[in-house]
Amino acid sequence: MSASSRLYIFVIAILLALFCIYNVVVYNTDGYVAVEKLSPTAVKGQQLFQNNRCWSCHQLYGLGGYLGPDLTNIYSTEGKGPLYIKAFLNSGVKSMPQYNFSEEEKDALVQYFKQVDQTGIYPNYNAEIEATGWVKIKYRNETSRD
Ligand code: HEC
Repeated sequence: MSASSRLYIFVIAILLALFCIYNVVVYNTDGYVAVEKLSPTAVKGQQLFQNNRCWSCHQLYGLGGYLGPDLTNIYSTEGKGPLYIKAFLNSGVKSMPQYNFSEEEKDALVQYFKQVDQTGIYPNYNAEIEATGWVKIKYRNETSRD
């Protein structure tokens, strides 16, 4: 075997090894994948949110209909929160219909908004463009991502 083809095989072997290491690292890192799971109550709230077409007028993380406001952080916004959410569900306003939810259903929706709220901030202006070109965003739930 010539020296150049030995070098060729050596380089390919190194590249293959690096590729393997890369895959092991990538697929074993939680990275930016949200690790929170919705509790059973929150799942019920999510179903109510979908089945009652809240999506058609409201957004989460900017996605949805645009007749009503974004609800991503409705749970923790100052002056809003659980009672505020329930008040809207009880009475409806302007173009928002009045819903006849049971107390349990309202609690499920509130629990859903609470867990959505914990996943982050929208819109998030707290971003920094680093010298490398990556954008670093400050997340609300720093412990679940690095
Ligand atoms: C037909 C459109 C429509 C649908 C469907 C709708 N909403 Fe609304 N909602 C609105 C509008 C418009 C407002 C804003 C009213 C205002 O501020 O005067 C609003 C306001 C709210 C607010 C207060 C938001 C804030 O930041 O002040 C909450 C909470 C809310 N809606 C929850 C829901 C939920 C939960 C559902 C589904 C069960 C739902 N809405 C379905 C139109 C809708």
